[in-house]
Amino acid sequence: GTQGGDEGKGEVVDWLTDHAQGVVRFQGGHNAGHTLVIKGVKTALQLIPSGIVRERVAGYVGNGVVVDPAHLVLEIERLEKIGLDVRSRLFVSEACPLILPLHVEVDRAREALRESSGSGKIGTTGKGIGPAYEDKVARRALRVQDLKHPQRFAEKLRALLELHNEALTGHLRAKALAFEPLRDATLALGEQLAPMFADVGYRLHQAHQAGANLLFEGAQGTLLDIDHGTYPYVTSSNCVAGNAAAGAGVGPDQLHYILGITKAYTTRVGGGPFPTELPMDQPGSVGHHLSSVGQERGTVTGRARRCGWLDAAALKRSAIINGLSGLCITKLDVLDTFAEIPVGTDYALDGDPCQEMPSDIRTLERVTPRYEVLPGWRKPTTGARKLADLPPEARAYLDRLQDLSGAPIRFVSVGTRRDQI
Ligand code: IMP
Ligand code: MG
Repeated sequence: GTQGGDEGKGEVVDWLTDHAQGVVRFQGGHNAGHTLVIKGVKTALQLIPSGIVRERVAGYVGNGVVVDPAHLVLEIERLEKIGLDVRSRLFVSEACPLILPLHVEVDRAREALRESSGSGKIGTTGKGIGPAYEDKVARRALRVQDLKHPQRFAEKLRALLELHNEALTGHLRAKALAFEPLRDATLALGEQLAPMFADVGYRLHQAHQAGANLLFEGAQGTLLDIDHGTYPYVTSSNCVAGNAAAGAGVGPDQLHYILGITKAYTTRVGGGPFPTELPMDQPGSVGHHLSSVGQERGTVTGRARRCGWLDAAALKRSAIINGLSGLCITKLDVLDTFAEIPVGTDYALDGDPCQEMPSDIRTLERVTPRYEVLPGWRKPTTGARKLADLPPEARAYLDRLQDLSGAPIRFVSVGTRRDQI
C-alpha cells in the first residue's frame, strides 16, 4: 500500500495469486479488511491472507502479525461456511503476539479519553492493535506459542492483566477484566487453533526451496507506517515493503519484486493530515462523487473514507521508501466522468514551494497542495482490457503519475473483477 490503506490490495493480491503457491501476511492484524465475493457469497478477509480463496494456495500468518484468536476462529468459520477448507492450508507463526479482549478495552478506552480530553482521536479501528504491539515491544506479550502451555499462559496472563486492569480502572475509567473466564476462553480457542501453529519462517524457506512462488501481502499503507507515516496518526506496525522480510522471517534479498498499489485518487480513514482532501458532504461535489462512485466506506469499521485528488508528492515518497519495482493503479474508472483531473504535484509552505512531503505532521498540516490539471476522458474505461483500449487522456494521466512518482506502472485496474486488471 503506497497511500493510507484501502488502495485495493486485496483484489490485486487475489489476481496475482494465480501465479503463487503461497500468500503471506507480515504485519498488522484484523484492522485490515477487504470484501471478496466467493462462490457468490460476500465475505470479508481481515487476518487470513487473501490467497486462501484459491484452494491450492497456502496462507501464512507471519510473526509480524498480531493475532486475535477469537477473531481468527470466527474468520475461519466464515470461510468454512462458504465451503472453503482453511485449516489444512493455513499456517500461523508461533511467534505472533496475541490480541486479547483486554487490548480491545484499552484501545477503545484510550480513544474515548483522547476524545473527551480534546487531544483528538487517532481514529483507530478499535481492534486492540496498538496495545498488542505495545506489549510485544515491552517484551511482556502473550504469544501464539504460549497457548500450547496452559501453565505458562496462565502465569503470563495474570501479570499482564494486572498491569492493564490497573490502567483500565485508573486513568482510563473503564472496567477491569476477570482473569479466569479470559484464561479459559483463550486456552479453548488455542486448542482449536493449535494444528495451524507453525514455524512460518522455516516453512517459507522450505516452500521456496521446493520452487514455490510466494506473495507477501501488505496491510494498511505507507502513510500509516509507524515510522514513515503521519505519526501519530498511524497504525502500530511497519507497513512498508521492507518489513515483509522481518515480519515473515525471510531475507531481504529474497523479495524480488515490490509492487506498490495506488488508488487513482486518495482516500484516508481515521484522523491525520490529508493535504489534497476534498469536502464530501455536498451532493454533486467532486468529493461526494469520489466517495459514492468509489464506494469509499471502510470494510472493518463501516466508516466513510475521506477522499481527495491524488497526491503525487506523497506517492513519490512512498515509491522511494518502499523501493518500488512497479506500480499498480487501481480504480481508474472512478475518474471516468470528470472533465478535469487535478493531480497534486508538490506543495506550498508559507508561500514557498515545497517539493518533498514533510515528515513532520505539524508541517504537513500547514502545506497547501499545488495542482496540475489534466484533461479528463469522460468515457467509460471499465471495458478496457489492454493499455491500447484506454482513452488517450487516461493514458496521459497514467504517464504523468509515472513521471511524478518515479515508478513504472505495471498494472491498472478499471473495476473489481479479475478480468478488469
Ligand atoms: P489501528 O490500526 O486500529 O490502531 O488504527 C490506526 C489508524 O490506522 C487509524 O487511522 C485507522 O483508520 C487506520 N487503519 C488501520 N487499518 C487500516 C486499514 O486496513 N485500512 C485503512 N486504514 C486503516
Ligand atoms: Mg481495507
